[in-house]
Amino acid sequence: MTKDDYTIRPEREEDFREVENLTREAFWNVYAPGCTEHYVLHCYRPKEDFVRELDLVMEKDGIIIGHIMYVRSHILSIDGRIVPTMTFGPISIAPAHKRRGYGKILLDYSIEKAKEMGTGALAITGNIAFYGKSGFVAAKTKGITYQLDPDGDYFLIKELVPGYLNGISGTFKDPDGYTVNDADFEEYDKQFPPKQKLRLPGQLVPIEHKE
Ligand SMILES: CC(C)(COP(=O)(O)OP(=O)(O)OC[C@H]1O[C@@H](n2cnc3c(N)ncnc32)[C@H](O)[C@@H]1OP(=O)(O)O)[C@@H](O)C(=O)NCCC(=O)NCCS
Repeated sequence: MTKDDYTIRPEREEDFREVENLTREAFWNVYAPGCTEHYVLHCYRPKEDFVRELDLVMEKDGIIIGHIMYVRSHILSIDGRIVPTMTFGPISIAPAHKRRGYGKILLDYSIEKAKEMGTGALAITGNIAFYGKSGFVAAKTKGITYQLDPDGDYFLIKELVPGYLNGISGTFKDPDGYTVNDADFEEYDKQFPPKQKLRLPGQLVPIEHKE
């Protein structure tokens, strides 16, 4: 797709390092000191539940400024059914291009592609201030809870097939690939330029109070 000043296209092997660095730059010190999202992406690509058709980059002036990836996931219904869903992320926009609408364009484009593939619903943990604009709602309002935090308002869902979740109550667990081995990660991260890990207000890990 080419429109205005950007292009969205599938990620190619020669983009891998650039996209991992972009992911690192986008997430660094945002939710925790440093970040591991670029390693999640790195480890996911060869896995079976990685959705190759939805591994997309956004280019502007020949430079990659955005990326999104999807994985196959599911809701475990209380009646024992496994209800297929997809989960996406990391989604990254280069720091210099944040809050100019590119993230929403990339997300909405990828959602349309997921819909064309017949995906019934998307389930993710994230900020409703961003995802709400693309039609996500708190999953617990639809009877679906997040296994790690059943009351969490940040566990979000979007039906792509209307009524797909009607009559379904159940729980969602993050796909296993979102958990990384810390020691392996530290070794992998050494390939990137050094960056300082900082504890900052607004991160999801609490700031320790020194007595
Ligand atoms: C989150 C991210 C992908 C959003 O992309 P973006 O291009 O910056 O966002 P957009 O400009 O498309 O945002 C559209 C609207 O969503 C909302 N929004 C976006 N980011 C937000 C944030 N961090 N907090 C609150 N609202 C946000 C705003 O209402 C925004 O409109 P506005 O700028 O006119 O107020 C990007 O900022 C990013 O890479 N962040 C770091 C990594 C990250 O957090 N990824 C998501 C993990 S859940």
